[in-house]
Amino acid sequence: MLQGKSFLKEIDFSQEELLHLIHSAEKFKQMKKGKVVHRYLEGLNIALIFEKASTRTRAAFTVAGQDLGMQVTYLGQGEIQLGKKESVEDTARVLGSMFDGIEYRGFKQEEVETLAEVSGVPVWNGLTDQWHPTQMLADFLTIKEHFGDLTNRTLTYIGDGRNNVANSLLVTGAILGVNVTIIAPKALQPEPEIVQLASQHNHGAIITITDDVAEIKGTDVIYTDVWLSMGETVDFKERIDQLMPYQVNDDLLALAANPNLIVLHCLPAFHDIKTEIGQELYDKYGYTELEITDSVFQKYAPLIFQEAENRMHTIKAVLYETLKNH
Ligand code: CP
Ligand code: NVA
Repeated sequence: MLQGKSFLKEIDFSQEELLHLIHSAEKFKQMKKGKVVHRYLEGLNIALIFEKASTRTRAAFTVAGQDLGMQVTYLGQGEIQLGKKESVEDTARVLGSMFDGIEYRGFKQEEVETLAEVSGVPVWNGLTDQWHPTQMLADFLTIKEHFGDLTNRTLTYIGDGRNNVANSLLVTGAILGVNVTIIAPKALQPEPEIVQLASQHNHGAIITITDDVAEIKGTDVIYTDVWLSMGETVDFKERIDQLMPYQVNDDLLALAANPNLIVLHCLPAFHDIKTEIGQELYDKYGYTELEITDSVFQKYAPLIFQEAENRMHTIKAVLYETLKNH
């Protein structure tokens, strides 16, 4: 049912299709763990275009494609003519004539939409400024693995409430019928059209948008992401001051008052100063941690890294389901 389709944003797929992908990922995960060979797509070629940096998404598409028996070609930022000497349309015509599918991570959502329209092959959005759909499959698979099901769960995203990950969580939660609360300062809450999309595709989820941190109470999942996304040019210090009251720390966990809650993060995370930017922020302003404290991060690290691993199994499901019977 997903054959030949692109995955550009969550609403491209129905609830049934998203659940099917999560189920397919569970099967692929079992096969991988059991060392069962699954080279179902031998002979196919896929291209991975990355206009922004990536560890998880790039690694996941590469390993998933190779496990399925495909040849995987990485086309990094500045390595092809795209943008500088050639339009998205012309690049799409060329790549579509050679590759069987294309992953694209970039800035504007319109670019990945054009790529899909013109190339004529399945295109998978590996993150744009607006959406991060493949991340969602890994996140909801991890929640399902942990709690056994998704029914009646509440996920609370706290932090920059209008970035790609927040948008995607809001809409995916609605499609899957998982309650989503977004806690963010008013200036960083989701755009009205994103909230509208979520309500148009809602299957019984309670959607809450608030700046009140107390709304964390009783949540099953706390989710956060970086406070400054790739490509944003705002003053980082201003953003930090705006979001520090929304940090995921021990006080927030106490306020949630749910001994069974879990914490997720799409990664990368600023939980210590073992990075160039982390060290720089420490030298300038004295912060050792931003959106999540190191103590909370370490407590939930096994699940957070399970979530990261699940990127590969879920992306494999997307590749397989959209390319099979090619
Ligand atoms: N979560 C995520 O997309 O990570 P990367 O930026 O490393 O791909
Ligand atoms: N919101 C982040 C997600 C990274 C996976 C960004 O766009 O940089």
